Amino acid sequence: MAGNAVSINGSWASRWVFILAATGSAVGLGNIWKFPYMTGMYGGGAFVVMYLVCIALVGLPIMLAETLIGRRARMSPVNAMRSLAVEAGASPKLAWPAVMGMVAALLILSFYSVIAGWSLDYVLGMGAGRFTGVDAAGAGAAFGALTADPWRLTLWHTLFMVLTGFVIARGVVAGLEKSLRVMMPLLFVLLLILLGYSFTTGHFMEGFHFLFSFQPDKVLDGVLAAMGHAFFTLSVGVGSIMVYGSYMPRHASIGATVLTVGILDTLVALTAGLALFPIVFAGGLEPGAGPGLMFVTLPVAFGNIPFGQLMGTVFFILVLIAAWTSSISMLEPAVAYLVERTGRSRALITAGLALLCWLVGMGTVLSFNLGADARFFVFGEDGFHLFQWGAEGGRTFFDSIDYLTSRILLPLGGLAFVLFAGWVLKRETVREELALRSPLLFTAVYWLMRVVAPLGVLVVFVAELAKQ
Ligand code: PHE
Repeated sequence: MAGNAVSINGSWASRWVFILAATGSAVGLGNIWKFPYMTGMYGGGAFVVMYLVCIALVGLPIMLAETLIGRRARMSPVNAMRSLAVEAGASPKLAWPAVMGMVAALLILSFYSVIAGWSLDYVLGMGAGRFTGVDAAGAGAAFGALTADPWRLTLWHTLFMVLTGFVIARGVVAGLEKSLRVMMPLLFVLLLILLGYSFTTGHFMEGFHFLFSFQPDKVLDGVLAAMGHAFFTLSVGVGSIMVYGSYMPRHASIGATVLTVGILDTLVALTAGLALFPIVFAGGLEPGAGPGLMFVTLPVAFGNIPFGQLMGTVFFILVLIAAWTSSISMLEPAVAYLVERTGRSRALITAGLALLCWLVGMGTVLSFNLGADARFFVFGEDGFHLFQWGAEGGRTFFDSIDYLTSRILLPLGGLAFVLFAGWVLKRETVREELALRSPLLFTAVYWLMRVVAPLGVLVVFVAELAKQ
């Protein structure tokens, strides 16, 4: 049955468009913002090695599983899993993880839009020369002033959500495919310009050593972080890759395609690190600044080096595009599902869902200012409180959503998808979809999906929860 179906939502012109789309989804704030600072925090080369291992043994098998489920059924994740489960003689209830993934993707979008909105503010700020000659205190104050102002945050959050909704509403071919064909090459060009620039700072080797110096004693520190990041950076565990897989042409090789996406994502992360740290060093700043690296440290660096204003603007445009091509992939699974289910117009469904995400995102906006005292999941001396105003510990609204999605929903979703491909689908179905020429290679990949990847997720997941 499913073998010849075509998605009612559309399909990509070629497997290259899938590569563009999946890479667009994968490359985002995770690569440009999170990866460099995590590498700095977890011992440079040691973290990079662990990250590569996690990508290869866990991330890629899950990505493969998602792509093949999507392409086999050619429907949105929920309907794809339901129909393939029934086809394999299993319960349609096995589609529940896809529902969870859809919700997780919308939750991620709610806060991703707020953070991406900051880069909109920074594009204008950099362009206008707001950071010229600024020192660390000044850049910190500028960032503080932005996050303290709910109106400004709301403005950028709204604008970014509209940008995201706009592409999705126009559809798979006219919206996604067309904009990806422009945005992705632009993203690569901007990244290369930035890398070229970092060569000229005279601190390139310093950055290189920082990224790749191997500190064996730090290997274990970074395992959990590396695994968690592998999920986030590859966009697996929520159905984004699955829905893009459902638009993939029938005769494209899934294995080679997925491998290309994984390699491109990793290359962008490494290049971003190589482009970024020399600039940080050229400005005489600390590389281990953590999450503030991009919005506080970098502006100081750009504000004090030749051509910094221009390059800083280029940098934040790059961040913006990367975030945009990721955010559209968070909205698509739910839009595709509701279009299939209700038959209503794509534009209407997109508007409704974007509004919903926007509303939840307002919680994140407020968690930086007026609502900073609203704490969730508080383990106080008088026991556990789900919510407490003004508590010492606990998590803000933003932290809670971030934690819930990246630490819990994403790994669970990834685990469910890879188990589905490995244990629910028939071996023949998987073999047919993968169409690998070498039987030995097929066996290896199949076992990665059946055993290695699920075990990897389980171990890390349990260890993460135990740490709490
Ligand atoms: N991979 C994206 C990034 O690195 C984030 C993302 C997560 C996108 C989940 C889609 C789904 O920023």
